[in-house]
Amino acid sequence: MIRELLPDGVAAVEVRGDDPEAALLPEEKAAVERASPKRRREFTTGRSCARRALAALELPPGPILRGPDREPTWPPGAVGSITHCHDYCAAAVAPAGQYASLGIDAEVHDELPEGVLERISLPEERDWLQAQANGEAHWDTVLFSAKESVFKAWFPLARHWLGFEDAHVDLAPEEGAFHARLLVPGPTVGGRPLQSFDGRFLVRDGLVVTAIAVGAAKADGGQ
Ligand SMILES: CC(C)(COP(=O)(O)OP(=O)(O)OC[C@H]1O[C@@H](n2cnc3c(N)ncnc32)[C@H](O)[C@@H]1OP(=O)(O)O)[C@@H](O)C(=O)NCCC(=O)NCCS
Repeated sequence: MIRELLPDGVAAVEVRGDDPEAALLPEEKAAVERASPKRRREFTTGRSCARRALAALELPPGPILRGPDREPTWPPGAVGSITHCHDYCAAAVAPAGQYASLGIDAEVHDELPEGVLERISLPEERDWLQAQANGEAHWDTVLFSAKESVFKAWFPLARHWLGFEDAHVDLAPEEGAFHARLLVPGPTVGGRPLQSFDGRFLVRDGLVVTAIAVGAAKADGGQ
């Protein structure tokens, strides 16, 4: 699924269910030494997907550690993103010379739990959701996932927090696309300030998957 959402030059690997061959490198083990079995499994599967994606691009498949803000730290020359939810796990990786950052996210395709929408959306986004006659998707969850992808694409560039109220997301259901306009100053990418992200989404097989690829030289949007 994730592959369909990302442009050429990005490698993506996804798995559903357990991956019996997934394994951590010794340097990665410390990060989840004391974690629950479920957390160890998802961390291991994510690293394994990421390493297969790195190998597909002939990038060094070195350890992917965890930074102080829980961000994955990619081997030199690579950018990437990881997501896991329920029985699904995916990683996307690209050469740093070609892409400035990636953000991917997966959620179970269901409506958001009560009270969550108010915390993660702007009033104008809620107006849009209310106006949707097209009930073929839980658009609240698509919106949420798009914002999670925005955060994952934003963080490696800005190195600081971005709140749910700091980006306005417009979903375009017909195109399976979204546009996220930053409401706070963005980092500089390719010599220009980043003002927005463009991403794509897919609703299939019980999941919502969203993805953003920010080109290395393109500062006014993704892909
Ligand atoms: C970090 C966050 C986006 C993760 O999303 P999630 O839906 O909870 O969980 P997912 O399984 O999809 O993603 C987890 C992965 O995100 C990645 N991640 C965590 N922190 C990250 C960061 N600061 N930057 C980039 N990626 C990060 C990690 O790879 C993690 O997996 P790992 O620990 O196994 O390596 C989320 O927990 C969060 O903090 N959101 C609040 C900020 C936000 O979304 N703002 C909206 C801006 S419009």
